[in-house]
Amino acid sequence: MRTRLFPALSREVSEVGLGCWQLGAEWGDVSDAQAATVLQTAHEHGITFFDTADVYGRGRSERRLQAFLAAGHRPVVATKVGRFPDPGLPQNVAFEVMRRHVQASRERLGVPILDLVQLHCLPRDLLFAGAAFAHLRRLREDGLLRAWGASVESVAEAERCLQEPDCASLQIIFSVLRQTPAVSGLLDRAAARGVAVIVRLPLASGLLAGNWRPDTKFAADDHRTFNRDGAAFHVGETFAGLPWERALAVVEGVRPLLPVGVPMAVAAMRWVLDHPAVTTVIPGATKPTQVVANASASTVAPFGAERHQRLREYWRTEVQPFVRGND
Ligand SMILES: NC(=O)c1ccc[n+]([C@@H]2O[C@H](COP(=O)([O-])OP(=O)(O)OC[C@H]3O[C@@H](n4cnc5c(N)ncnc54)[C@H](OP(=O)(O)O)[C@@H]3O)[C@@H](O)[C@H]2O)c1
Repeated sequence: MRTRLFPALSREVSEVGLGCWQLGAEWGDVSDAQAATVLQTAHEHGITFFDTADVYGRGRSERRLQAFLAAGHRPVVATKVGRFPDPGLPQNVAFEVMRRHVQASRERLGVPILDLVQLHCLPRDLLFAGAAFAHLRRLREDGLLRAWGASVESVAEAERCLQEPDCASLQIIFSVLRQTPAVSGLLDRAAARGVAVIVRLPLASGLLAGNWRPDTKFAADDHRTFNRDGAAFHVGETFAGLPWERALAVVEGVRPLLPVGVPMAVAAMRWVLDHPAVTTVIPGATKPTQVVANASASTVAPFGAERHQRLREYWRTEVQPFVRGND
């Protein structure tokens, strides 16, 4: 596993991390034993960056990470604040509420200080108002967290965060199906300022593994059932914002543009890693075999410029016009 520098923490982190939303809720049933095996497998394959949030299963993802950390592992754990249901938005960005939520994450993770706390896709008006940045800054000064960053839905929101001189990281959706962060120059601007880039949804919720068919079904409590058109949260967070039928079609368009002999999920992640401004990519996983495959993207050969060009052209004409919620 190759590592990349996370500047604000002065730490090297694995370039392939692990997304831990799956260890909380909204991805069907993942048992305690399954979650523990996923985490242990990640550790054994060199993964040292884990992304979670207070709201994932109302603390369940963080508690499962605590059980893992209790074994003595010392990875970087990034959590998020802002979307916990009690009391909910907009009250969650009030200083005292944010402090309470951050304290709760600290206790659930069982750490004296949180490595990284990210604003969790705040609605644009709340993000742009700026008070949430100031509150996280205060919590850092109070010793609750080492660094703060933001998970955002759009390039415009990411640019707003870059105006804050001490923003440590940006978490964004970026994949062969969501190329705007590279095309717009955002990635390069973040890197130039020493801001870590954390890439979520590299597989467009699993779509880019290339295994689904029109009759593929997901559990009732899986967001790929209930949020495919944005009924519960931002539409861009499920299948990268593509309508189901279009999503299945574009996978078949992308497939022949990827290298032969590399599993499609691994190739999709290699594409992300080929962008040097990316600090770590955080695929989620419900099975240890997925973790092993995803970690292997670090050792696959980079794509050549011509392949990148073909994938960009395909995205521009066949994918980007159909993505909902991507601005
Ligand atoms: N607003 C936010 O801040 C936000 C929003 C979304 C996600 N995130 C973070 O980003 C992480 C990643 O995003 P995501 O989980 O939504 O999307 P993703 O990483 O694109 O997709 C994850 C899903 O892809 C499938 N998968 C993973 N590896 C695979 C492999 N090697 N082969 C075949 N299938 C594979 C699994 O589906 P099955 O479960 O069907 O096996 C897995 O649950 C999350 O875990 C979370 O930590 C943050």
